[in-house]
Amino acid sequence: MNIVLFGPPGAGKGTQAAYIRDKFSLCHISTGNLLRNEVAEGTPLGQRVSAIIDAGQLVSDDLMFEILEKRIKQQDCENGFILDGFPRTEVQAKGLDALLSKHGLTIDIAIIIVVEEEALVTRITGRFTCANCGAGYHDVFAPTAVAGVCDACGSTQFSRREDDKAETLKSRLAIYHEQTAPVLPHYKQKGILRSVDGMQSIDQVSTQIDSLVNELKQLT
Ligand code: AP5
Ligand code: MG
Repeated sequence: MNIVLFGPPGAGKGTQAAYIRDKFSLCHISTGNLLRNEVAEGTPLGQRVSAIIDAGQLVSDDLMFEILEKRIKQQDCENGFILDGFPRTEVQAKGLDALLSKHGLTIDIAIIIVVEEEALVTRITGRFTCANCGAGYHDVFAPTAVAGVCDACGSTQFSRREDDKAETLKSRLAIYHEQTAPVLPHYKQKGILRSVDGMQSIDQVSTQIDSLVNELKQLT
């Protein structure tokens, strides 16, 4: 089973992808996380993309394909994957079809998480991540059980993303509307686009996604 998650910055793609990964034993491919890892490790690629990410701009399609193809071929993706943050342009959507068909694969379902724009600022500015294991939290909506301690690994070190400033979010949102939203008809035409109400609680959104994926599993 191969899934694509769509939604504007802060919609809950990463949050829901982690849930689906655990529930259905799929691998979670967040192109944003892959790029941030390169930056954190100081690789040549990381050095090339660091300023682009911090400014909320898109990394070139060519580089993204290089990164994606390497990741999809890894063994933990054999059972299927969840794409979080890819495709983000029409070129990426078409290229993804070609890349997958080369490996005998297809996308089974594309899910758009629909969230009102005002809610995104609150979600983005309150987000923080465990610096050790990457588990995601929110100051108000998803705090750690014990203040200052990661639920997943017990670390006390957390980080906030450089591109999570309200100003940068504006550019990220504009790019989403200009370049990523136009990709949705590509999946609608294939008859595999479904939408979930992302204004519900994290658990309610997960339940809705769960039903969609289970429905699909029964058909296949
Ligand atoms: P990326 O990392 O993909 O960022 P994004 O798409 O902007 O999305 P976010 O990660 O900000 O939001 P999310 O939907 O995952 O929300 P989350 O679950 O964390 O990309 C970053 C950058 O990398 C790009 O700007 C670009 O430069 C580059 N890049 C990446 N992919 C690329 C590509 N394909 N091509 C070119 N460049 C690329 O949730 C947010 C917060 O809200 C969390 O704190 C969470 O706890 C909370 N929350 C989640 N759901 C709910 C809910 N239902 N109710 C209340 N709170 C909630
Ligand atoms: Mg994310």
